[in-house]
Amino acid sequence: MTSGQIAVHWKEEGYIAPPARFIGQANAADPDIFQRFAEERFPECFKEYADLLDWDAYWHTTLDTSDPPFWKWFVGGRLNACHNCVDRHLATQRNKAALIWVPEPESEATLAITYQELHKRVNEFAALLRDFCELKAGDRVTFHLPMVPELPVSMLACARLGVIHSEVFGGFSGTACGDRIADSGSRVLVTMDGYFRNGELADHKVKADEAVDAAAKLGADVDKVLVWRRRPGAYASQSPMVDGRDFFVDDLLQTYRGKQVEPVSMPADAPLFLMYTSGTTARPKGCQHSTGGYLAYVTGTSKYYQDIHPDDTYWCMADIGWITGHSYIVYGPLALGTTSVIYEGVPTYPDPGRPWRIAERLGVNIFHTAPTAIRLLRKLGPDEPRKYGYRFKHMTTVGEPIEPDVWRWYHDVVGKGEAVVVDTWWQTETGGFLGSTLPALQPMKPGSCGPGVLGVYPVIYDEDRNVVEAGSGNAGNICIRNPWPGIFQTIWGQPERFVDLYYRKYCADPDSKDWHDWPYLAGDGAMLADDGYFRILGRVDDVINVAGHRLGTKELESAAITVEEVAEAAAVPVLDELRGRAVEMYISLKPGITGGDDIRGKVIAAIETQIGKIARPQNVWIVSDMPKTRSGKIMRRVIASISNFADVGDTTTLSNPEIVDDIRHQVQSEKLARGEAPRPLTPEEEAEIKAFGRTE
Ligand code: WT7
Repeated sequence: MTSGQIAVHWKEEGYIAPPARFIGQANAADPDIFQRFAEERFPECFKEYADLLDWDAYWHTTLDTSDPPFWKWFVGGRLNACHNCVDRHLATQRNKAALIWVPEPESEATLAITYQELHKRVNEFAALLRDFCELKAGDRVTFHLPMVPELPVSMLACARLGVIHSEVFGGFSGTACGDRIADSGSRVLVTMDGYFRNGELADHKVKADEAVDAAAKLGADVDKVLVWRRRPGAYASQSPMVDGRDFFVDDLLQTYRGKQVEPVSMPADAPLFLMYTSGTTARPKGCQHSTGGYLAYVTGTSKYYQDIHPDDTYWCMADIGWITGHSYIVYGPLALGTTSVIYEGVPTYPDPGRPWRIAERLGVNIFHTAPTAIRLLRKLGPDEPRKYGYRFKHMTTVGEPIEPDVWRWYHDVVGKGEAVVVDTWWQTETGGFLGSTLPALQPMKPGSCGPGVLGVYPVIYDEDRNVVEAGSGNAGNICIRNPWPGIFQTIWGQPERFVDLYYRKYCADPDSKDWHDWPYLAGDGAMLADDGYFRILGRVDDVINVAGHRLGTKELESAAITVEEVAEAAAVPVLDELRGRAVEMYISLKPGITGGDDIRGKVIAAIETQIGKIARPQNVWIVSDMPKTRSGKIMRRVIASISNFADVGDTTTLSNPEIVDDIRHQVQSEKLARGEAPRPLTPEEEAEIKAFGRTE
């Protein structure tokens, strides 16, 4: 074992074969597909995905590598994403539901929006954006929308005009939204008055006011705030409308009834949208996705990996405010002309039978969710799925590693043993899946995502750029050797950071124009078994994955140190039974300051207002000092080990090793007293905690 390699020993799970009923109808059932996507066919293999789309002009170059690592796909091609997701289905299936929306209150009627109706709504809103907001191709618009059909309508209206949308997850705070408005240079914010969650009508418009203020502080002016009303005509927010700035969309739309807008033919490499994600610094990264490459990739993977046929009823429970929703609720499924279900609220309200009731009532046959939801549904309603008569042919898990035990409940109880399960590993940056089994052709293995997907060739490197061999029992940094059409184009406004973060580490030669020299660094630790299946261990950078959502340690820490009394802050992950990981904050106070619950409360409040409730820390520990290296860097892996009752490893290189025992005693005795001590870590979890923050 060379230095920098981490040995992990896990028990290999056995294979489970896909059910015959699934294989018989699968989109990819002929093993010949592996030949079509063999490495020697790269990059031309991706023509198969691009040919699933309508092009206004066909491309002349499949992959242009002249400016690495700014890859360009399908160069010379022109298309419109909205045409591909809406208009082209009108000829054969105008009266089929494109979207089915399930409101949270069960007394409220479910809404089916046909392709024809979707076309009408998208055209009218596009006309409003173009004529009232004067938006044109290349402009950016920020959305802060919850799970309502107005969100996909708004996205597709932008796509129709070539306007770049940037949806901020509805659960994020107004301040977080304002930061993203300023970063993207949006002058228009699209929001909603309120929405239902956990039985309550949340006031959402109030966040728009905070967002506009936060953006103004960063020097960015928002001219117009468009407010969709959850119930047209009945304003659900307490926050006043600002004259000349805020407009009700339902009022404005009166002027645009029946208006049609010609889809704008866009170059394949024109940006389609931005999706912000967290990274190693406090500044979020606006991942810029392309029109042609992205749409081809999500359409192809939706067809082969989600096994979507036009007649399926497909339900991905993710929020459209995350990349999963963009790729696998809106763009991929609609490009294939299927019916995509969206729902408001949470899966466990009013009770943990809700998802299964919806699935039964709507005849959902493809289901897609995250381990955190599966764990929660198992805990609160282990027998609920048996009470409902739905039948899934296919199910997905995404967003974090899934424990084999949780996987088995998903397969046996939710899937009733009849559904094939795919564990799809990917990222905001990657547009679509990177690792998964091809459901009819590769057996399932609980806890492993599977091999690289068609046309994607992963490799694991150690810190010294040696390949970590299959079956070696060692973990390392998973990379993708080749470009693929769904890869993001750049970080909006930060091209150097794009190169630094994702390509610098393993680049063989910065002057090379050969893609072989530019592996993509995913930022995850992983292991490769003898059979070519990858097991993803989790982030190796300063990112904490809470319930499938990425939180940057720097973002959390920057929020904490806005509290006047706080001198230093460090965020670390702790194991959490339901959310996978939760956040713990360690803070030290400025000299002469003392305090306890009051300061802890301020730190929590600062995090909630600057990021959002999802980032709320589980504990805030006030310590006398942080363990530091001799150069003064906080050793997050040491405190992460303490929080998780793991071995702290070698602390001799610290400038203040004596502090470690003090902190351990303080934190662990308190946790033991509260009954918060976690179960012992598995070897994979131990490897992840020990690697945490090792970029420092
Ligand atoms: C990070 C990306 C992928 C869309 C939703 C999250 C982790 C994602 C898996 C999986 C193990 C996974 C990785 C990755 N992750 N899918 N199937 N097994 N880990 O997108 O917010 O960009 O997060 O989520 O750590 O890097 P994201």
